[in-house]
Amino acid sequence: MVLRFVSSEVSYDNTKGSMALTNLQKTLPGPKGWPFLGVAPMFFKNVMEYIKVLPQYGDIVEVTILGRKIVYILHPDDIERVFITDRENFVKGTLFERTKLLLGEGLVTSEGELWKRQRKRMAPSFQPKHIDPFKDAIALAATESLEEFGQGGVKNIDSEMMALTLEIALRILFGTSSGDDVEVVGDSFTEISDFFASATGGFLPLPLWVPTPGNLRFKRSFAQMEQVVSRILQERKTQADPGTDLLGLLLTEDGMEPMEEKQLRDEIRTLLLAGHETTALGLTYTAWFLSGHPEIQDAVAEEIQGLTKGGPVEGSHYEDLTLCRNAFKEAMRLLPPAPVTARETVEDAELGGYRIPARRVVILSMILTQRDPRWFDQPEEFRPERWTPEFEKSLPRFAYFPFGGGPRICIGQRMAMMEGTLVLAELLRRFRIERVEDKLPKLIPSLTLRPSRPIPFRLIPR
Ligand code: HEM
Repeated sequence: MVLRFVSSEVSYDNTKGSMALTNLQKTLPGPKGWPFLGVAPMFFKNVMEYIKVLPQYGDIVEVTILGRKIVYILHPDDIERVFITDRENFVKGTLFERTKLLLGEGLVTSEGELWKRQRKRMAPSFQPKHIDPFKDAIALAATESLEEFGQGGVKNIDSEMMALTLEIALRILFGTSSGDDVEVVGDSFTEISDFFASATGGFLPLPLWVPTPGNLRFKRSFAQMEQVVSRILQERKTQADPGTDLLGLLLTEDGMEPMEEKQLRDEIRTLLLAGHETTALGLTYTAWFLSGHPEIQDAVAEEIQGLTKGGPVEGSHYEDLTLCRNAFKEAMRLLPPAPVTARETVEDAELGGYRIPARRVVILSMILTQRDPRWFDQPEEFRPERWTPEFEKSLPRFAYFPFGGGPRICIGQRMAMMEGTLVLAELLRRFRIERVEDKLPKLIPSLTLRPSRPIPFRLIPR
């Protein structure tokens, strides 16, 4: 039997799907914090320190942040109930309303019938038979852009990876990319991320019509990005051939109704943005961990040299880049690019023996559950070698979930793994990565887990 932390008044066996409750607790454990502010000062001061405190309270932990109660769900079995078994009662809800300013009713933010229809409509384009051929475009983009690194030197890998993954996203979606588009979308996106990261943007949002500097910058950046998307769509409409890129697939999937213009724009913006920053962060943190473990880095580089034999990394190498893939995977365990996701209860819910009232925000925390010593030996250690097939089989289903889970699991998961692995392989094939600073900068929890300032690395040609 798998034991788990339970409050003293409640006990149950979690090896069966349903639980024999002996009591239903209404008062949830958790750190008290300040009146109204709750744990906000800690949360905004240093999120990595803040999260360390939470598991001490159990698998279900309640906190208050700026007057709002939030419940963390830390046990894989409860996460499974939120993502799968009881999913009708856990919707994306109000926390995602703000994200709609950016992503409209695209796949990340839509709900109900609209989401169901769109997911069904778009899923075929993300099947391996369609996605796998993009491996070559990814490898080529990595080769071309890392060529520009020349003899290496000190580079801010975070911004370099952002530019590269955006370039890849544009190439996959639209077939080509122009330097201007990469710049406009990249700059706009940086402004937009700052908007979502600001304390007021996240927890005490002012309506967009209030002309605060942040709101004005957001609107300007959004309009600039929209111009790029609209222009590309317009160009495509005038072409006879829909194209073999992702947009072409989305426009022509057999037996599917065409998407309305606004819906298509929302989906394109979603795909462009949901994928590139997350993948860039995954790569940046992988570089961070590998630069702290030269012996692991050397082993990964050896695997790459053995496959590429002096030539550039190619799409066909992907399957055999096991160590490289595992390094990316392990980095996403310790520093998941999407550190949490959120749902809101529709009606009262029961989880882990506690009553969670209707309209309560629940947080599923990748960054906490993936560091839980019950599932991972030496959980704070970077150990890519732990990812054997046997280990994966032995893990509870939601002990590791950097891409979410259930029907709303990341549609770009396969693409992200290909991209992370192939870009990392080309980077390590060319360079040894060394740290310039011995500590990571402060991390900011926004839509993603971003560093608060650039992270420099020294790249030394191999
Ligand atoms: C390392 C890279 C990535 C990470 C860590 C990541 C993470 C996630 C997570 C955690 C979710 C679930 C959110 C939730 O349930 O609330 C999600 C959903 C989604 N992701 Fe990703 N993602 C990555 C790359 C990508 C890429 C490359 C694309 C597109 C090309 C993409 C497109 C999407 C979309 C459209 C959804 C919404 C799916 C739905 O609700 O039906 N992601 N992603």
